[in-house]
Amino acid sequence: MNDSHLILGVDIGGTSIKAAVVDTRKGTLATAVIRTKTPRPATPKGVVVAIGELAKRLKWQGPVGVGFPGLIKHGVVRRAPNLDASWVRHEIVEHLRRALGVPFVAVGNDADAAGLAEARFGAGRGVRGTVVLVTLGTGIGSAVLHNGSLLPDTELGHLEIGGQDAEQFASTVARERNKWSWEQWGRNVDRYLTTLEYMLAPDLFIIGGGVSADPERFFRYLETAECKIVPATMGNDAGIVGAALFAVPGVKSLSRKRSRVKA
Ligand code: BGC
Repeated sequence: MNDSHLILGVDIGGTSIKAAVVDTRKGTLATAVIRTKTPRPATPKGVVVAIGELAKRLKWQGPVGVGFPGLIKHGVVRRAPNLDASWVRHEIVEHLRRALGVPFVAVGNDADAAGLAEARFGAGRGVRGTVVLVTLGTGIGSAVLHNGSLLPDTELGHLEIGGQDAEQFASTVARERNKWSWEQWGRNVDRYLTTLEYMLAPDLFIIGGGVSADPERFFRYLETAECKIVPATMGNDAGIVGAALFAVPGVKSLSRKRSRVKA
């Protein structure tokens, strides 16, 4: 499997790390998704070893794109609020490149990955103007696209509203931790989206993360924002497909640091 449009996509999550070979032209998976538990503690070494094992299980030696749940600039982790603190200042691209021994590694934010995938192949396909995807999960991730181009690393899950980080009242974890009803939580998400709308004037909101499979539970409470709000349509595949897109030449993502070694 060394066709140039086939890329291994890896999605690093708080509970599991998932990988599959992606056909980046079609936005589809060329293999089944395989997964492993995110090591505890989720240190750089543990996570990189886990990714190496996934690549080995798929017998993969080609380019690799990785979605990371935090902020990366120029190949270096700046923040990883839901992983181990030792990630900060870690040279993730270089570490992966050396450990995997593959010709090319690109790493970007996990929500940006999902946003790129949904914009190209999912709920945002063909939509002109500004599309904002938010992933509601352990944290809140954001992706902002205009006419399909990504403005990377927006980190809008940490927007402070009413003195609170949005993640504290609108993430899935906040709902579970506080035992909020879907209505209570839905109204919090509504408040969050309304604030984002005020700032970014999007043409479309896409709601991603595990909850996008259950829109009937809370979408009826998302009533204040004027722009259209739709659930993501690619489910868990979005993070993997989008991660692979990071490694496609020409896909715009300033957060990505390309890293090549001579074969
Ligand atoms: C991080 C983001 C990430 C999101 C979802 C947030 O806590 O700051 O970078 O995209 O969680 O994983």
